[in-house]
Amino acid sequence: MAFDDELRATRIVPVIVIKDLAHAVPLARALVEGGLNILEVTLRTDAALAAIAAIAAEVKGAIVGAGTVINAGQFAAAVDAGAKFVVSPGTTQEVVQASRQHNTPILPGVATASEIMLGLSLGLSTFKFFPAETSGGAPAIKALGGPFPQVRFCPTGGIGAKNLNAYLSLPNVIAAGGSWMVPSDLNEADAFSCAAVMAREARTLVQP
Ligand code: 3PG
Repeated sequence: MAFDDELRATRIVPVIVIKDLAHAVPLARALVEGGLNILEVTLRTDAALAAIAAIAAEVKGAIVGAGTVINAGQFAAAVDAGAKFVVSPGTTQEVVQASRQHNTPILPGVATASEIMLGLSLGLSTFKFFPAETSGGAPAIKALGGPFPQVRFCPTGGIGAKNLNAYLSLPNVIAAGGSWMVPSDLNEADAFSCAAVMAREARTLVQP
């Protein structure tokens, strides 16, 4: 399935920060068990690439990608680790070219009309809208649908159970990302069962 179609099917992308490599596989299993199989592991920690590799090798059903990728070197490292997609906070020629070179889909970030126009000129039409809440939230995405009817968005940043459907109900939003279903302390005894419950709850929030 094309990556856009995977996003349309699941509609929610957990954004994960792994500090301790030992947490990667149990957390990914819990999220997949809860119905969220597209997992973005951000390259913000030393453990991130090894976490992607472990999830790719060991978690059945997971589609693991790398987030916070801001240059071609990180793109290559993410693909080498096993990332099936890449998310970037911004849109540059460098990361879009890397996506072509590695034949790996990218969701580059945009927050303005000019950034969308840059992305369109690079041949893309699906973008991360970031940081969503502070960039105008769902009303901004709705307004951008006027001049850019061909563009689809996956907003992240400040999204949670309360405002998820304000985004997902827009026709130009295919999915939304966020960290709200990942417990902040993964050392807690029940952290992984909690993640599974919160993932399942997040899925039930999605209105058909
Ligand atoms: C991020 O890049 O940190 C994501 O947008 C997640 O944002 P959140 O923690 O506000 O959900």
